Amino acid sequence: MQAKMNLIKTSLIAFIAMAIVSCSQSELPVYKNADKSITERVNDLLKRMTLEEKVDLVGGNGMKTMANRRLGIPEMVMTDGPLGPNTKKHSTNYSAMINLAATFNTDLMYSVAEQIGAETRIYGRNMLLGPNINVARAPHGGRVFEGFGEDPYLISEMAVPYIKGVQSKRVITCTKHFVANNQEWNRFDVSAEIDERALREIYFPAFKTAVQNADTWTIMAAYNRFRETYACENSYLLQDVLKDEWGFTGVTVSDWGGARSTVPMANSGLDLEMPFGKYYGEKLLKAVKEKEVSEDIIDDKARRILTVMFKAGLFDESIDTYGGHSDDAGRRRLAKKVADQSIVLLKNSNNYLPLKTDGIKTIAVIGPNGGEAIMTGGGSGKLMGNYEISPYEAISNKVGDQVEVKFARGIPARSLDMPIAGPEFYLTKEGEPGIYAEYFNNKEVEGEPVLTRIEKAIDFNWGWGTDRNDGSPGSPEPGIIRINKWSARWTGKFRSPGDGWYEIGLRSDNGVRMYLDQEKILDAWIDGKSGKFKVARYKFEKERWYDLKVDFYENIGSCRCRLGFTPYNPGTMTNDAVKLAAKSDVVILSMGLDKEMEGEGVDRKSLHLDEDQLKLIQEVLKVNKNVVMVLNGATPIIMSDWIDKVPVVIDALYPGQEGANALADIIFGDVNPSGKLPLTFPKDENKTPVAQTYPGTKELADYSEGIFVGYRWYDKENVEPLFPFGHGLSYTTFGYSDLKLSSTEIDKNDTLKVTLTVKNRGTFDGDEIVQLYVTDKEASVEREVKSLKGFERVSLKAGESKTIIFKIAKDALSFYDVKTKSWLAEPGDFEILIGASSGDIRLKQTFNLK
Ligand code: BGC
Repeated sequence: MQAKMNLIKTSLIAFIAMAIVSCSQSELPVYKNADKSITERVNDLLKRMTLEEKVDLVGGNGMKTMANRRLGIPEMVMTDGPLGPNTKKHSTNYSAMINLAATFNTDLMYSVAEQIGAETRIYGRNMLLGPNINVARAPHGGRVFEGFGEDPYLISEMAVPYIKGVQSKRVITCTKHFVANNQEWNRFDVSAEIDERALREIYFPAFKTAVQNADTWTIMAAYNRFRETYACENSYLLQDVLKDEWGFTGVTVSDWGGARSTVPMANSGLDLEMPFGKYYGEKLLKAVKEKEVSEDIIDDKARRILTVMFKAGLFDESIDTYGGHSDDAGRRRLAKKVADQSIVLLKNSNNYLPLKTDGIKTIAVIGPNGGEAIMTGGGSGKLMGNYEISPYEAISNKVGDQVEVKFARGIPARSLDMPIAGPEFYLTKEGEPGIYAEYFNNKEVEGEPVLTRIEKAIDFNWGWGTDRNDGSPGSPEPGIIRINKWSARWTGKFRSPGDGWYEIGLRSDNGVRMYLDQEKILDAWIDGKSGKFKVARYKFEKERWYDLKVDFYENIGSCRCRLGFTPYNPGTMTNDAVKLAAKSDVVILSMGLDKEMEGEGVDRKSLHLDEDQLKLIQEVLKVNKNVVMVLNGATPIIMSDWIDKVPVVIDALYPGQEGANALADIIFGDVNPSGKLPLTFPKDENKTPVAQTYPGTKELADYSEGIFVGYRWYDKENVEPLFPFGHGLSYTTFGYSDLKLSSTEIDKNDTLKVTLTVKNRGTFDGDEIVQLYVTDKEASVEREVKSLKGFERVSLKAGESKTIIFKIAKDALSFYDVKTKSWLAEPGDFEILIGASSGDIRLKQTFNLK
């Protein structure tokens, strides 16, 4: 009886609750009613907003958009990507995106992206600033680790699952940086001069795909200029191409501080200014009132932002809905899978790898990257993992007690945190304590200084000023020296407390150069970041006063300059490492780049390893030839100085938090390597597609190589690279056979079916990445020798064969015809090339396009 009463009571309560809900549902404003369509909700909300509120919405609020309490408009809450949610906390580091590209595994990319989306939600964010789909044009590019390499087809294929996977968790992606952000050198101002065909064939495709095949909800405009107009106010890019031609319905976002104007930017199609409404805000309101920007344009921007917010469910669910922890077993496994599939075995003479523990008693892990987990490049894309395992630890764990593993760094840690030289190091020319400072309201240290004074030491952090509302002045003397685009010169005397070699360095944002006794000893006159010291080595005499001159300039954003000084004594560390190498059976040399050497804001100056590493390699090779060279880094490394002397080279790129475990598994044969290079490695720094044009002048990035980017240039010029695009070895060998085309003649609207067989001919199970390239044999314009138009990762047990099928349609045969402004597949002969890399073509067949 009691049970029946309870049931009636519960049903009654449920009924009343439903009645309340449906009654309140009908009273809800349309925009709050989740049953209405997004268009209805946006229209309703827009009608309720004042002009001021719309203008508020189109200017950022730090890493958020502006909330509207009156109407209950939530915030887009952002975190940097693209490797994962890069909040102050840690999250799973699956690997750098360059590794995902090296897997050539789009399904794996989707799985990772889903988890990146889920983790973004766990950290209370609903927008992720990624993917970065800029093309790795210059081999020096600081942000290559964030992207998917040099080939537009590969980049596009990886971008789609990235965007879809992240957005499947209702996290807004921000595909960046549109367009031609292909170098860090002078990235805030340089104008990319690209001809229309190269633009359409190389730099646009991934963005177009992101819009049309993946429906990315937002796109970030680049810092740089494009054909002289800043990308953030470039109506050709933002309005004509992106919105009108490609039908992009989402939001265009300025890069952080990339906005330079109010009216031109507002009228060019830039929707959301980040991180603050510095040029929008009050200035935009005024421009609307003065009819320089129409209200329709503001409505359009607000409409786009609201639409994306509704699509991502921001109005209908709390940002805190997602619980859980970023670090879990499933994500750890996924990270391991990415590392397993992305590490590239570049060289393996006489099947030196895999190592067998039987014959080995001692292993030496030597080098700067051996004692720590190297997971990421630097800058906004930097991502620390949930945990770190160094190669030394992973290899020790792997071999257990059977083999003795020892580690020696071999070279001193680079002075990331040098002690700052205090006032006792300086005297003015007149012999007073301190150093004489002159400040200029231009970046060139030119003309009359606007302020001069004596300062105690070069030790400043002026902060962001109004570029980011963090309360810092952003200028040495606000009101006199401006926030952006100023410079300083310090002159005086400097002394060292001791004799011998010292490192003297400047940690600066932006450019610096330093002279001692009129000799320029340090030159970093670029828009560098302050993550590390730029260091010179100099032999000092104790207590002697040297003439010191330091120049500094600030471009935009945060600004600081500090002079550090520390003794330099590499000898002992190298000696210890060499002694260890001499008595070990095998040496794992752990070298390459890290987040201080490549990252946002700074391109690499040289493609060689740094001098310390080169010296250590030579010293170790003198005492032991059993060297497994393991490299980190996204951009190519020139290996001419040492490659012939080592049997093995592994490029681990930045393989994430499980990278070292994967490396150990590969070295000992528990994982068969299968990653392939997503970019070409040159032999010679002076023979690359951009050797004649990069970095170019301060104003101009000259893209005169046109469509011949990456392997396309090596093919055209017949220059043999060190390792071609798509190269990567396995412990087994794969046989390619039976290439068949569905027809030898096709019509424009036909699809050509390409089949072939791949066989694992060895004794190891393994994955092969089969690549399909197309050659246009008869064309009215100069075309690339070949271009990638298909790939497939295939897993084969030892002895197993599989049939691979590709489908090739008109798109894969076309070039961009500048005369007709359209894509053209010209009749004539084409060739299908099937290869294990762009330099290792195994099968070919010709067909005719009618
Ligand atoms: C970078 C962007 C990044 C933004 C926010 C900029 O400096 O270019 O890629 O998303 O900062 O951190």
